[in-house]
Amino acid sequence: MEVQRLTGVFGAEVDVGDVRRLDDGAFAELRSVVCEHEVVVVRGQSLDVTEQVALSRRFGPAGPVPFIEPSPDHPEVIKVLKEASDGAAFNFGGAWHSDFSFQSEPPSFTLLHAIDIPPYGGDTLWASMTAAWKHLSDDRRAELSAITAVHTARDAYSRKMQPLHSGLSGMNIVCDDTANDTEVHPLVVTHPETGRQALFFNRAYVRDLLGVDAVRLQSLLDWLHAHTTDARFTLRHRWSVGDLVIWDNRSTQHYALNDYAGFRRELHRTTVAGTRPTA
Ligand code: SIN
Repeated sequence: MEVQRLTGVFGAEVDVGDVRRLDDGAFAELRSVVCEHEVVVVRGQSLDVTEQVALSRRFGPAGPVPFIEPSPDHPEVIKVLKEASDGAAFNFGGAWHSDFSFQSEPPSFTLLHAIDIPPYGGDTLWASMTAAWKHLSDDRRAELSAITAVHTARDAYSRKMQPLHSGLSGMNIVCDDTANDTEVHPLVVTHPETGRQALFFNRAYVRDLLGVDAVRLQSLLDWLHAHTTDARFTLRHRWSVGDLVIWDNRSTQHYALNDYAGFRRELHRTTVAGTRPTA
């Protein structure tokens, strides 16, 4: 498999032909390229929802999808859709996050397939959390390794957030009280497949840090956000119709830019069940 690196830090593009026709050996190689490079771009695909689900299931069974009503075409697919008439105010995924990190077993991989793309804008950014970990001093590593992070969907999907989501006419996002639940995960995790260490942090869902006193909490949250999204650790993808991007949620976080008001953007997303993050 020809692997073209996209930055000096992470990300790769591969040419695998038609992803629907990968034999078991080629698929295993693709999966290991995703774990190794964390974000992988595969161009020129044309998957209907059933074909995307079939590919996604080769990575593993689907993970649970809370709050977002799935596509009527398939219960394992969500349509990430903003209509041209939806205006500029809000877009799905428009804050740095790792998919559903508030779950006890957050997704391992996400597959996102571009169906309709604005003439400009609507790029997605990823940040490598292994790179963010690597660039820490020994002292900082020791400090962060002692901390447990509290993840919650409270500020994304609790009832007070409903008006925001209701602005997206093409997505049915239903906020409810389960968004107030919390889940704790180590701040420093070991990837179950590569054995690499990474920071498991994102500003959208991490709301508290156990083992940090109240005086320091906000400044450490702000520092973690600034450090983990430092431009040195990021990759930006300009979408074309037919792109399939597969990423590893265990070692990245991502952000969907909202700079295409007046244009339609549709991508189909599947998430693969993961395991409980471990230190
Ligand atoms: C997401 O956060 O899963 C959506 C990303 C995007 O629309 O670019």
